[in-house]
Amino acid sequence: MVKTISSSALGKMQRFIRDNAGLVIEDERAYLLETRLARLLVDYRCADFDELYRCVDSGRYPELADKIINAVVTHETQWFREMSPWRVMERLLLPRWQDELAAGSRTVVRIWSAACSTGQEPYSIAMLIDDYFSRAGRRSEWAERFTIIASDISGAALGIARQGRYEAIAMGRGLPDDYRNRYFSQQGRVWQLADAIRRRVDFYRCNLIDEASDLGLFDAIFLRNILIYFADEVKTAVVEKTARQMNPGGILFLGNAEMMPENSCFSQRKIGDDIYYVLKENSSCMSCQSTIRR
Ligand SMILES: C[S@@+](CC[C@H](N)C(=O)[O-])C[C@H]1O[C@@H](n2cnc3c(N)ncnc32)[C@H](O)[C@@H]1O
Repeated sequence: MVKTISSSALGKMQRFIRDNAGLVIEDERAYLLETRLARLLVDYRCADFDELYRCVDSGRYPELADKIINAVVTHETQWFREMSPWRVMERLLLPRWQDELAAGSRTVVRIWSAACSTGQEPYSIAMLIDDYFSRAGRRSEWAERFTIIASDISGAALGIARQGRYEAIAMGRGLPDDYRNRYFSQQGRVWQLADAIRRRVDFYRCNLIDEASDLGLFDAIFLRNILIYFADEVKTAVVEKTARQMNPGGILFLGNAEMMPENSCFSQRKIGDDIYYVLKENSSCMSCQSTIRR
């Protein structure tokens, strides 16, 4: 039977998760902690969640903080999730970047999947780029000029992502048959992503609430289906952080259900119904001035 979390343990755990990952767990969702942390009660021989909190707070088990965060984050993802960014990539960005590469006004394109979960998002980016330039007969020429960085707070999710091995259920979520046949090989019950695509993505552990990032600057950032889990002030801080990591004119994609915080450094643009955001040239967002003026 699942143990009930006391109100004092709930408050402490909520604060711990908010401080360490920026995530809000509302009181109504206490069951989420009760179910997802139940395994840790057993593993750490804790009588209840108060004791589990004492374990992590004492620092006696240095790995426990990560285990708690890993257990509570939502890894929900799928291939080519939500159509907007993929259509904007195909119709606007890939043709533009190809022209700029061909004209010599740029030498590389850098893309960041900033909460990549188990890898479906960055690998969708890599497959789309490969497919787009293959169709144009220019794959060897241009696809190699793209750098795709993917990051997540969860070491467990990154472990799956790096392997590029997926079970049938994950494969069935949004991956077109044509892409499955071209880019994966079946090995018993799992599907292995082709090395040529897997090697195009570099994975890093990165907590979006941490200030410093040495991942470099990007031309497009996928920050999708993560802001909804953050506290309001964390949303604003994380969007500002992405602005500081953008090259001039950089493009930001949010999830369909996510709103850009007010007075951000980004302007909303649309192609048809598809929304994307462009880094403003002159922003009123003071903390981003250094990036905007670059
Ligand atoms: C719902 S998934 C979204 C995956 C993908 N972007 C998509 O749209 O399908 C959210 C991911 O954000 C990660 N995450 C949660 N808090 C984070 C933080 N503070 N820093 C970085 N990643 C975080 C979780 O581990 C999870 O893999």
